[in-house]
Amino acid sequence: MNRSTNGLNHPIDLILACYPDDTAYLPTMQIIRSIRKMQQVSRRLAADGQTIGLVPTMGFLHRGHLSLIKRAQKNADCVITTIFVNPTQFAPHEDLDKYPRDEKGDIRKIREAKGDIVFIPKADEIYPDDFQTYVTVEKLTGTLEGKSRPTHFRGVTTVVAKLFNITRPDLAVFGMKDFQQACVLKQMTRDLGWPIRFIIAPTVREKDGLAMSSRNKYLSGEARKEARCLIYALRTAREMANSGVTVPKKIITEMRAVIKATCPSARIDYIALTDTTTLKPVSKVVRGTVCSLAVHVHGVRLIDNMKIA
Ligand code: PAF
Repeated sequence: MNRSTNGLNHPIDLILACYPDDTAYLPTMQIIRSIRKMQQVSRRLAADGQTIGLVPTMGFLHRGHLSLIKRAQKNADCVITTIFVNPTQFAPHEDLDKYPRDEKGDIRKIREAKGDIVFIPKADEIYPDDFQTYVTVEKLTGTLEGKSRPTHFRGVTTVVAKLFNITRPDLAVFGMKDFQQACVLKQMTRDLGWPIRFIIAPTVREKDGLAMSSRNKYLSGEARKEARCLIYALRTAREMANSGVTVPKKIITEMRAVIKATCPSARIDYIALTDTTTLKPVSKVVRGTVCSLAVHVHGVRLIDNMKIA
């Protein structure tokens, strides 16, 4: 990886600040808030032969996000982390206003992770008045999260398409935790022909197995303990598959029982065993089958998934 540059006398101040001499890369992180500036900087980086890695986030960063930044740093000269709580991926009854935010803390964490650029656009720049163009991926969004949250993926694909156009990354990293999101975005990237290497990084978990998520902030005391029902259910599914059970219904019935035993008040939104590529339910567990679930734990909607065979 080349983290040095010959970039003396760049016309763009930000690049100068980012790469102050031609011998050493100095990790002076830049914070960019305007689309125009971000476009200028990414074009300049590309002109300088620097590869760009993109890590889109909605902020309130945890170790899972930081692992995506680390992953991007392995293959890119400059890593751009975006922080944008995207309104179009929330339905009117969902938690947009309550979604946790901590810009200061996020910037500090990205700096500590040696991120290069943080892009924090404003909602009215991403979605100006009279905005009316959306990107939709069809088949893959009709199941799992897409079924429960019908307008969600249209918002995700639209904002990520905009972020791709603004930052022009060579690679982008997304987490396996949002497995369907990663599949949908990968499909979009392929269908629209962006020359972007698409990396899906493993889920980072708490010690007890709970998948890291910004929404875990809402869990405390008993709710936090009972949130383990998701990973317990997934491990049960994997154990059953490993011991030769191939009938999805049997596995799902057992998973439901594990969830109820761990969190009696849980409300299961869905549990599905699907093909890893089409995301269609499988009639028999085969190699690569992915188990996904969404469960309301004390009012907090949590999702997780695992390859069980
Ligand atoms: O996974 C997320 O945090 C969001 O869905 C994403 C990809 C940043 C788009 O807003």
